[in-house]
Amino acid sequence: MDKYVINGGRKLYGTLEISGAKNAAVAIIPAVLMVNGRCRLENLPQISDTDKLLQILTLMGAKVDFISPGTVDVDCSDVYLSDKIFPLTRQIRASYYLIGSMLGRFGKARTTMPGGCNFGVRPIDQHVKGMKALGVSVNIARGLIDAEAGNGLRGAHIYLDKVSVGATINVMIAAVMAKGRTVIENVAREPHIVDLANFLNSMGADIRGAGTDVIKVRGVESLHGGTYSLIPDQIEAGTYMAAVAGAGGSVRINNVIPRHLECISAKLREMGVEVEEYGDAITVRREGPLERVNVKTQPYPGFPTDMQPQITTVLCMAQGTSIVTEGVWDNRYKYVNELRKMGAEIQVSGKTAIIEGGRRLTGAPVAACDLRAGAAMVVAGLCAEGTTVVEDVVFIERGYEDMVGKLRSLGADIIAVSEPDPRMEFASRPRLIG
Ligand code: UD1
Repeated sequence: MDKYVINGGRKLYGTLEISGAKNAAVAIIPAVLMVNGRCRLENLPQISDTDKLLQILTLMGAKVDFISPGTVDVDCSDVYLSDKIFPLTRQIRASYYLIGSMLGRFGKARTTMPGGCNFGVRPIDQHVKGMKALGVSVNIARGLIDAEAGNGLRGAHIYLDKVSVGATINVMIAAVMAKGRTVIENVAREPHIVDLANFLNSMGADIRGAGTDVIKVRGVESLHGGTYSLIPDQIEAGTYMAAVAGAGGSVRINNVIPRHLECISAKLREMGVEVEEYGDAITVRREGPLERVNVKTQPYPGFPTDMQPQITTVLCMAQGTSIVTEGVWDNRYKYVNELRKMGAEIQVSGKTAIIEGGRRLTGAPVAACDLRAGAAMVVAGLCAEGTTVVEDVVFIERGYEDMVGKLRSLGADIIAVSEPDPRMEFASRPRLIG
């Protein structure tokens, strides 16, 4: 799809189901490369990032069978390295997890520098530091990454200088097949890191401590096949929670782990939103006015940076002045220019955004600058008076399964529009797809 057209101002009511976690899926699919035998992955989100990773495995000789929506069988018994993956690996961030899994599988890795959302500089020095400690030589030149463990991967004691989700995952994956014991300190604790460790352990790995700040891995000779069901997506759930907070209404959100949402629920409650938790569901209700809050994003269990654009958007409607501080990325406020087109009053200075609330946003043409910024534009469009057109929704579709269908089921007036290819004479008007 090319754009979403939203007629805002409708409250949201009903029930929706959250899909499997994108950030768990994009780590687990590359890790499957190390598994000898068939892996069945369940609760896999149907989004373009997972499609691309499965295509990458296919180009490396894996057999991929789509069993039913959200269930895929992957058999990596006969895989090989191939340069054919490069056009795809350049498009997604998580392709760098192939470094760890190729090293585990082949003792060497060859891929491109990753793509993904642009939040300023996204270094991979901590990934490289971890790999080098495991006995790997790494060469990065002309956008290509070549890595080789000449004498095999060897367990090591590694201290990450920065709490990094990506480095934690990549080094943990490589350590699974290293000889001996690896201790990784100062690691990230996000739920998808625990999910990846659970997946690897269920295939025969020996990883302890995921979810704390020290991970210990005892290397194993091989991994065997099996079935694994992914956790639900924390950020997808948080995005719909923000949508209900902003637009108003009452929604039950199923297939969530409420503990993973604590950081988001607590902030919404401070803003006057009712959030109730059940075993694997929550309800979010907002009828009265929204109150101002301050938010600082931090690694888990802090408030997630991937919810920063959505919460900033909702704070435009809160009474009073709110301050949002970005604690993870250098440059994650590009979307603010888009919100200003809708009447938002936000001053940005470095990592801080000061939001003058109490505004009723008005519909406008805006662009999705990246995945979560795009989700924030949809939230803004749902809250705004009039029509909002969100362009470049390809970013949103990297990480949200059927966002339009899910929001329509809650009563939102949103449609996806596919622009006709100008080379096709008969297609003179945009095609509207429900
Ligand atoms: C992942 C998520 C992304 C999320 C981020 C933080 C995926 C595919 N993406 O990105 O959506 O916003 O976690 O929750 O899961 N850093 C270094 N050196 C490194 C690696 C990172 O300095 O080698 C810095 C980064 O510049 C950033 C911070 O560490 O300031 C955190 O980055 P990291 O946790 O690695 O983010 P990603 O794994 O890229």
